[in-house]
Amino acid sequence: PLVVVLAGGLSHERDVSIRSGRRVAESLRSTGLDVVVHDVDADLLPFLRDTRPDVVWPLLHGASGEDGSVRDVLEMARVPYVGTGPRASRVVWNKPIAKAALLEAGLATPDYVTLPQSLFRDLGAQPVLDTIVRHVGLPLVVKPTEGGSALGVSIVSRAEDLPRAMVECFAYGETALIERAIDGVELAVSVIDGPDGAEALPAVEIVAEDGYDYAARYVAGETEFFAPARLTREQATHVADVAVRAHRALRLRHLSRTDLILDGSGTAHVLEVNVAPGMTEMSLLPQAATASGRDLAELYRSIVDRALL
Ligand code: DAL
Ligand code: MG
Repeated sequence: PLVVVLAGGLSHERDVSIRSGRRVAESLRSTGLDVVVHDVDADLLPFLRDTRPDVVWPLLHGASGEDGSVRDVLEMARVPYVGTGPRASRVVWNKPIAKAALLEAGLATPDYVTLPQSLFRDLGAQPVLDTIVRHVGLPLVVKPTEGGSALGVSIVSRAEDLPRAMVECFAYGETALIERAIDGVELAVSVIDGPDGAEALPAVEIVAEDGYDYAARYVAGETEFFAPARLTREQATHVADVAVRAHRALRLRHLSRTDLILDGSGTAHVLEVNVAPGMTEMSLLPQAATASGRDLAELYRSIVDRALL
């Protein structure tokens, strides 16, 4: 079969996507598949018409890749593709909407408020900042409601650092999500649909001295990972169960990654869910797969085969 891997695009995560796409394409080729990597532009539909792939793997991170719009195009073109459909992607892409869906499913997620940039103009910055600190408490996390790779995300421990965090956030979007920071172990749990349904890979633990920011994600040596995470059997079962429940409740397909914090009392607070988890050499899903003893190329091949079913 012919596989088209979509990578690149115009989001802030273009470079990451190119790295993810290259890795997955190489792995799939090693299993004997023909793979073409295509950057996404206005030619997508004519390209699909001329190339006639058997399956497309949209490895686009960030807007258009994860917000469902390119998946809408794939639906329109009636080509089978890897991953979650457009509607569920849209839900997951918007963090406040995803959090509402997670709460609905009985999962924990940190308390939060959302804040449009226009409110600062209308009410003045200081009263708004004071209200945030009073309402959410410190430390807190500021992030764009839509986005990935921690771009525009800040952890704020002192009220005087909040204005800068807001400016960084609004560089990436019109609305900020402000969450209570949860103290605990940072974990990522990838889920793969297998013959027996959704199955969690071992949790990966992230230890980043100054926060798991963009550099900590993609520069080798910046972050310490434990794969599998240093958890008791009970904790490991709990976080696996949470990720599988999130995967099912949000109607995710083939693969996903749930990011969460496990607090001291054993509660797993879901931060977000990803429909296009990173696949770079530093990314979490590949680390989890390797930790489970799986061969990466075989795993990616099995995902493609599932999309072809
Ligand atoms: N947004 C990046 C690619 C990730 O979640 O891994
Ligand atoms: Mg993400």
